[in-house]
Amino acid sequence: MKVLHTSLECYPLAKVGGLGDVVGSLPKYLTDLDCITEVVMPFFDNEKINHLSFEEVYSGALDLGKNTFDFSIKKVLSKDFGFQIYLVHQKELLYRPNVYSYEDDTERFLGFQLAVLNWLLDTEIKPDIIHCHDHHTGLIPFLVSQVNKYNSLIDIPTVLTIHNAQYQGQFSYDKLDYIPQFDLHNIGLLDWDHCINSLATGIKCAWKVTTVSPTYMDELQHQANGLEGLLSHEKAKCVGILNGIDQDIWDPKTDPMIVHNYGAKNIISGRKANKEWLCKEFNFDVDKPLFAFIGRLVYEKGADLLPDIISEALERLDVNILILGSGDSTVESRLEELKEYFPGSYNTYIGYDEKLSHIIYAGADFLLMPSRVEPCGLNQMYALRYGLIPIVRSIGGLKDTVIDIGDNGFGICHNHVSIQDVYYSIKRGVEFYEDQKYYRKTQKEILKIDHSWNNSAAQYIELYKSLK
Ligand code: ADP
Ligand code: GLC
Repeated sequence: MKVLHTSLECYPLAKVGGLGDVVGSLPKYLTDLDCITEVVMPFFDNEKINHLSFEEVYSGALDLGKNTFDFSIKKVLSKDFGFQIYLVHQKELLYRPNVYSYEDDTERFLGFQLAVLNWLLDTEIKPDIIHCHDHHTGLIPFLVSQVNKYNSLIDIPTVLTIHNAQYQGQFSYDKLDYIPQFDLHNIGLLDWDHCINSLATGIKCAWKVTTVSPTYMDELQHQANGLEGLLSHEKAKCVGILNGIDQDIWDPKTDPMIVHNYGAKNIISGRKANKEWLCKEFNFDVDKPLFAFIGRLVYEKGADLLPDIISEALERLDVNILILGSGDSTVESRLEELKEYFPGSYNTYIGYDEKLSHIIYAGADFLLMPSRVEPCGLNQMYALRYGLIPIVRSIGGLKDTVIDIGDNGFGICHNHVSIQDVYYSIKRGVEFYEDQKYYRKTQKEILKIDHSWNNSAAQYIELYKSLK
């Protein structure tokens, strides 16, 4: 069986968040299970992609309304990724430094999807399954099933994975002419709330829909940023499959990005060396418990509450707090301003830094995840893999992966996104940390938890097989 994943992100070539990690690792594990898995993504103008060697395997053109854009498909020659990657090179729309947040994202995402399908039309060996990720590729299930031009692809089953239903890729009917000719009686398939909604369309037209954790699947029936009704209507074809992590890249024994490698035997000294590095870099006292946050500074992650949580915690508790993230500019500046008030116990790195994130997993004492919405969350799984205790709000994938110490578990959980709840969890963290024997025993225990893709990749294969 051959599966083609279509995605905007794929680690290490392009990563903004967890989508990149998932598409950069699941294909490896599927390939290990004898499912030939390939990824097609845009050719971005970034250093990692520009340095690759490739072979051009296709050149063609795509129409977006009245405009025609030439594109080519490059096959990546490196064998380092563990699966085959193809890149859509399109100069005007896709060859840009960033993945998202351009004014013409609608045109860019559509251009990518049309290029992929034009290429598939002309390829001799077609995939057995097309697996789409998020709204950026959510129109593919509609295009292959409804558009006359793509009729020869109609029997290829499509799977759509929803990584985050908050983002839906809506656009107005002014752009309807971007979609190649189809039977207008079926225009309702594109519609949600009087506009074209790429995610809703994908949910309606894909053969199967998956979400990235079972609990998130349940939550979407009641809370899906306006798509609840649709998701409960389509429930029969939806399934929640928990994400896994790439245990080769995320391995404290071999991780080249951390300061000191360690395993279960030397976890105390190994983590201490990483913590010392962090404390030196960010001016902290190494003897105090270090609480960290890593992530996009957006509302869904509860980032808007961080400044007040930090103030509350640092006024009342003897702890250190470190924030790594970027996103909402108001949150970014509030986090920066706070540095002045709590020198020596609070610090932040506003920006994206993969290496620093690894050192934080390897050296901090607690990881804060006060998320409002968390479809899966990979940070808590990386934390467990490195022996870092997660403090999470019990929702979505966090609920599926973190058990509270009060329930014989290994993390700290709270139910609400409020300053008081998070403060109380930090306070529980301090008490936990003071009981060093128990704390260290728990750290060792969590190293044994297996969140590799093995189990979930097998579930995807079962799902693919059910479609053939
Ligand atoms: P999401 O995809 O919603 O952002 P996930 O928990 O699934 O959340 O994945 C986030 C991924 O992005 C993790 O690999 C995390 O370490 C990484 N990450 C997020 N923000 C940063 C940052 N500022 N610097 C480095 N890595 C980051
Ligand atoms: C999304 C979600 C996150 C999930 C990731 C990978 O970005 O917000 O919770 O872990 O996708 O599936």
